[in-house]
Amino acid sequence: MDHLDRPYRSVLYIPASNERALEKAQTLAADAIIFDLEDAVAPDEKESARQSLARRLREADYGPRLRVVRINALDTKWGRADAECFADSNADAILLPKVNGADDVDELAAIVPAIPLWAMMETPLGVLNAPEIAAHGRLAGFVMGTNDLAKDINCRPDPMRLPLVTALQTCLLAARAHGVIAVDGVYNAFRDEEGLRRECRQGRDFGFDGKTLIHPAQIAIANEIFSPDEGEIELAKRQIAAFEEAGREGKGVAVLDGRIVENLHVEAARRLLARAKAILAMKGEGG
Ligand code: COA
Ligand code: MG
Repeated sequence: MDHLDRPYRSVLYIPASNERALEKAQTLAADAIIFDLEDAVAPDEKESARQSLARRLREADYGPRLRVVRINALDTKWGRADAECFADSNADAILLPKVNGADDVDELAAIVPAIPLWAMMETPLGVLNAPEIAAHGRLAGFVMGTNDLAKDINCRPDPMRLPLVTALQTCLLAARAHGVIAVDGVYNAFRDEEGLRRECRQGRDFGFDGKTLIHPAQIAIANEIFSPDEGEIELAKRQIAAFEEAGREGKGVAVLDGRIVENLHVEAARRLLARAKAILAMKGEGG
């Protein structure tokens, strides 16, 4: 699957040191898994976690789930060895934390020649440099690191995330300008379903492709909210049909339910149907 044609609704972090969770993830309905060597792994477990993750990726079957490995930053004592260890693994992407600019991506690209690179967008400098990071030829995905970002900005927690909106949208604009996937940050209160639902809807309405998650209980909600629903699918089909009908009558625009349907709406409708199809394909492959 081309990277833009697959779903990224639910992107689950798993500490690479947690064998039980790693095992469990082979059957969870997450679209993507981030195998974490960074913040979820304690310093004295970093090396053993790297080795056991390398073995697991060789041996375990994660089906259609995208396998993303989050390494430690390259200026830590583990980062380079992490990158070298997974440089020719079967990981689908290598995720670099604390990316501040395109130079950081260059540094990783020199160690990892062939696997797509993703960037954690979680520092003020990284957000300000989002356009050059997204424009990097090897860069395929952005993951919002909202906890780190809030810490560095020094903002207060806010249920509507107003203090983070500029950063979220700056990264989204950069991602969309360069055909890069953009996944929203985590919702920390993993037992609060209503709160998660609200934040997933907000992220979806902003334009994110999906949400990063920390607990399996969050997967079903993210999958539901980031999937096109029946009504949207139906409307998309009717828009396409109405536009084609108008075309046959020699008109450049159609009217459906009292609203104008132009070429741009048809493009969006086709994209929505492609997304729905990709989700079905994921289910068909046991996702
Ligand atoms: N991925 C896969 N499985 C997970 C999981 C995850 N992220 N988090 C928990 N599970 C599993 C547990 O292993 C447990 O499995 P079991 O029932 O077979 O024993 C089950 O889900 C229920 O877990 P629960 O007891 O509710 O949670 P917990 O108290 O063990 O763990 C956290 C809570 C938050 C510590 C844990 O979910 C976690 O480590 N999340 C990821 C954190 C992370 O990666 N952070 C870095 C990026 S922000
Ligand atoms: Mg972080």
